[in-house]
Amino acid sequence: MKFSLSLSCLMLCFLLFIGWSNFSNKSIDGEDRVANVLRKLGKYDDSKYPNQNVKGNVSAEAGRMLVEEGFAKKTNGKKTKKQSKHFVCTSCHNVVKEDDDLANPDPQERLVMSEQLGIPFLQGTTLYGAVNRETYYNGDYEKKYGELVEPARNDIREAIKLCAVECAQGRELDQWEVESILAYLWTIDLKMDDLLFNGEELDLVEKAINNDHDQELAAEIVESKYSKGADAHFVYPPADRKKGYDYEGNPENGKLIYDNSCLHCHERQRYSYFDLDNSKLTFKYLRNKAKGYAPHSLYQVIRWGVPVKSGKRSYMPQYTKEKMTDQMVEDLRAYIEKRAQ
Ligand code: HEC
Ligand code: HEC
Repeated sequence: MKFSLSLSCLMLCFLLFIGWSNFSNKSIDGEDRVANVLRKLGKYDDSKYPNQNVKGNVSAEAGRMLVEEGFAKKTNGKKTKKQSKHFVCTSCHNVVKEDDDLANPDPQERLVMSEQLGIPFLQGTTLYGAVNRETYYNGDYEKKYGELVEPARNDIREAIKLCAVECAQGRELDQWEVESILAYLWTIDLKMDDLLFNGEELDLVEKAINNDHDQELAAEIVESKYSKGADAHFVYPPADRKKGYDYEGNPENGKLIYDNSCLHCHERQRYSYFDLDNSKLTFKYLRNKAKGYAPHSLYQVIRWGVPVKSGKRSYMPQYTKEKMTDQMVEDLRAYIEKRAQ
């Protein structure tokens, strides 16, 4: 009896030991923040962390409210003024991961994923992982808006402030609100599980963390698994709008775009004065306008966006090539034509 007790005790200790040693050897967990892993590999940028010392109710919860609801609570418990009359940040940005392969984001794959996840398909890049990126308003945004986006190119605070005013067409954010949004963005930063490693690569990263060598290579591997800046190319409507782009449209795919993107903002005029629904009349309207050069043509609004009209500071952001391919535009047109019949 005594013997078996001490034996089972020994076994238990042994099992505990194995369990413990297994765990302690494994220095990376799927839930680990990519930023923390990079820190262990010697790469970090502390300027991106929120400054809690700014006067005001700096908190991730205030940031979440601003992003999703458009206002937050002040230190005295009262609501701030709405940031924008027209939009909230989530009118145009998701706050969850929307690309499977973050190193090679692809709009068609994103569309399918958004349908599976039940999230909208939008012109702005998801805010999930925004703090892990290093450049903002890339590609043609930089070329086209030059000076305006200059301060925001490498500075996430400036990117947030710029979008509040220029994208959301609202008031300027107070400094504590910017820090709160940043604090919130750090709750939706990239985790190791979000990146696609093969076993060898993970081994190398683990070893680099434990043994202090090959750290640079390991950091390079980690950083190669996600895009450090969302690229953006402006593309143009087809030369002949009757013919459209040179692709055969797939109406089933077009339906995903209509439902998950257009209706997100236009259904019952949610973020727009222009109403879209599933009636034949609406589809006929869109079909007839598509071919022409009127400002309501599909090609026009998708590729150029809809500018701010005086007295009505609402506008529609354009879809860059990275957000909608020419093929996808034809898919949408095919769907509209089918529903208009
Ligand atoms: C009307 C649409 C719209 C609204 C509203 C909006 N944004 Fe944006 N935002 C965009 C577009 C379009 C871009 C262009 C670049 C991109 O996202 O790829 C952008 C870019 C950004 C970027 C840089 C992303 C990057 O990786 O280049 C940040 C950060 C950002 N917005 C934050 C916000 C915040 C915070 C709010 C709310 C206060 C907000 N945005 C509201 C449309 C919008
Ligand atoms: C992020 C929100 C958003 C998304 C997504 C969006 N729109 Fe818009 N759209 C707007 C806003 C805002 C306007 C500005 C006009 C207004 O508010 O009346 C607009 C304007 C338009 C107009 C011109 C109406 C006018 O009065 O000038 C058309 C047509 C249109 N959108 C179609 C579409 C289609 C088709 C899609 C899907 C491919 C789409 N929109 C996706 C927000 C959006």
